[in-house]
Amino acid sequence: MIYRKIKEDVYSVGVIDWDRRIFDELIQIPNGTSYNSYLIKGSDKTVLIDTVDPTKTHELLDNLEKLDVNIDYLIVNHAEQDHSGSIPNILEKYKDAVVITNSKCKELLMEFLPIDEEKFMVVKDGDTLNLGNKNLKFLITPWVHWPDTMVTYLEEDKIIFSCDFFGSHRATTQLFAGKDIYRNAKKYYAEIMMPFRAIIRKNLEKLDKIEIEIIAPSHGPIYNDPKFIIDAYKDWTSDNTKNEVIIPYISMHGSTQRMVDHLVNALVQRNIEAKPLNLTYTDMGEVALGLVDATTMVIASPTVLTGPHPSVVYATYLANALRPKLKFVSVMGSYGWGGRMLDQITGMISTLKVDMISPLIIKGFPKDEDYKKIDEMADEIASQHKKLGII
Ligand code: FEO
Repeated sequence: MIYRKIKEDVYSVGVIDWDRRIFDELIQIPNGTSYNSYLIKGSDKTVLIDTVDPTKTHELLDNLEKLDVNIDYLIVNHAEQDHSGSIPNILEKYKDAVVITNSKCKELLMEFLPIDEEKFMVVKDGDTLNLGNKNLKFLITPWVHWPDTMVTYLEEDKIIFSCDFFGSHRATTQLFAGKDIYRNAKKYYAEIMMPFRAIIRKNLEKLDKIEIEIIAPSHGPIYNDPKFIIDAYKDWTSDNTKNEVIIPYISMHGSTQRMVDHLVNALVQRNIEAKPLNLTYTDMGEVALGLVDATTMVIASPTVLTGPHPSVVYATYLANALRPKLKFVSVMGSYGWGGRMLDQITGMISTLKVDMISPLIIKGFPKDEDYKKIDEMADEIASQHKKLGII
């Protein structure tokens, strides 16, 4: 992707990866992604902020070549390789460039990449860097997405370069995001930021103290309406949940499917939004996305080899690892001759601070008395949602 001007002497010089479909060999990214890198030309010094995935180094180097600049400083906001992987190539070409980062990020970079220690200049929270007519300020914002993350603030232009923070996986030639980025940004938050919700809230408070006109993340388009994405993050990271029940499930021979269908109808009749997610067809990112707002999760599974279906195990493990703000969990499903499915599922959600709604495990195909019990489960969920004041 050719470089683009954001403001006077501020350029986007990163690349778009139209073809990438999976990240960390885990996260499906059907809309591709980008690795954004930014160049700031001050009257005295020129800075490159973050690099790109090593598979795309040549495109970044081409852009810098076209802009005909020397790089005095290379600022690294985050050590993960999709942003740091081209650092050795940049240092090879711009031999006098100094790598500016925080101490945690330096430690990680030195583990991952061949960078001489003398190339580094370590900054602390609130440190500044003068480029002549422009000034940068470094704000340490850990856990967006690793413990090393920081953001860089360009004071004169009121731009924050936020790396993964506020990012989205979407390949687009649009420089600035429209409101339609919401779903991509929320899914991105769900997949990599959600476990660090409490710390992210503190980072948002820190950003509230500075005037921001543009947010330039390192994935997806730039925000020239920063309030839109900051407000979304405040909502996602708040303790408030919505009147929603997420139901990740598998059915092998139809019993669990009947139970889920009945539960969905029973919840709808009680004015609760139900989100059944058949794990055979659902990208795990959709499960993560659904967990951002849900108050209740009902995990539904048949019994396979005495335990839950492996796809349900995966979804349950993921939900536990993402530590969403769920308030209630229940389990439903069926078995043929026995098993310990309920114990195994409940044993897998130890990090979730939830209360249990009475589970329902039945033998074989659901019968009238089982449907009645599903109605009772829906009543219990409705009663809890009412107590929270969300119905
Ligand atoms: Fe886009 Fe955590 O790297």
